[in-house]
Amino acid sequence: MKRIGVLTSGGDAPGMNACVRAVVRSGLSAGLEVYGIRRGYSGLIDGDMEPLSARDVGGIIQRGGTFLQTARSAEFMTVEGRKQAVRRLNDRLIDGLVIIGGNGSLAGAYELHKMGVAVVGVPGSIDNDVPFTDMSIGVDTALNTMVHIIDMIKDTASSHQRCFLVQVMGRHHGYLALIGGIISGAEVTVIPEKEIPLEQIASAVDDAYIRGKTHAIIVVAEGARFSAQEIADYLTKTSPGFEVRVTVLGHVQRGGSPTAFDRLLATRMGMRAVQALLAGEHGTMTGLRGNRIELVPLEQVVQSTPSLDLTNYDIATMLAR
Ligand code: F6P
Repeated sequence: MKRIGVLTSGGDAPGMNACVRAVVRSGLSAGLEVYGIRRGYSGLIDGDMEPLSARDVGGIIQRGGTFLQTARSAEFMTVEGRKQAVRRLNDRLIDGLVIIGGNGSLAGAYELHKMGVAVVGVPGSIDNDVPFTDMSIGVDTALNTMVHIIDMIKDTASSHQRCFLVQVMGRHHGYLALIGGIISGAEVTVIPEKEIPLEQIASAVDDAYIRGKTHAIIVVAEGARFSAQEIADYLTKTSPGFEVRVTVLGHVQRGGSPTAFDRLLATRMGMRAVQALLAGEHGTMTGLRGNRIELVPLEQVVQSTPSLDLTNYDIATMLAR
């Protein structure tokens, strides 16, 4: 193996830059040429790539987003798009590829693997919905951002005796909301994996009011059955205690400088991905299992559905007294 490529795909996640840096510098140290491919699979199909030097990835470890840019490519979903991507790799004599992204991107990596490309995936997504890794790159930063903002919301909520509904990202997965709810001390957490009727939410809020709480925080996952606004409309009608307000965090959770945890995770995974390519262990994904970075076959990753540890839901409920 002489020349490898690296790309970031799907929703950006803090720490992707740190991972690209690790891929480039560990690749160069091993005597490889490393090509940076811009705009994910879209850039791969267009042949938008160039060699990266150690200096090109200087000063990026602390930056959020991805300097290679990213995309959700509709063209790559087609057979013709994927064939074109493989042709581009062959034209440039790129014989190994590191793909950093979430579930959709890793499914794309598996397709390339089946077409004979030596590929290693790295889980990068704030949602923490990639199977076979305890954490994906970006999750820790997103949680820190979320908890920082909810702390600020609590200040104003307590001052006005208000109930705030805070809607957080996570697509169809409740991880960010659930863990965010525990670490911010939320009164109620609403996630897709555990349906909870509006009446039950209202009674938890009423209880909190009666018990003398100065505020109530409800963290709502964007994929939950009811949106934060729908819950707020219901509470406004049924719960006379707290005044109700809604904050939708949105893409603010995807930005910002990566935490120490994310920088280290991204660095370790990027280096492991290059080692895996060199050792011929491709068709795999780097996964954090305990404190070890292990390789998992991409086939297993794409065939599994993300699961959520619901004992955390019981913990969140028990501690919201
Ligand atoms: O997958 C990351 C994520 O931020 C999800 O939490 C969210 O549902 C989605 O991406 C938003 O996608 P977009 O940036 O395309 O609006």
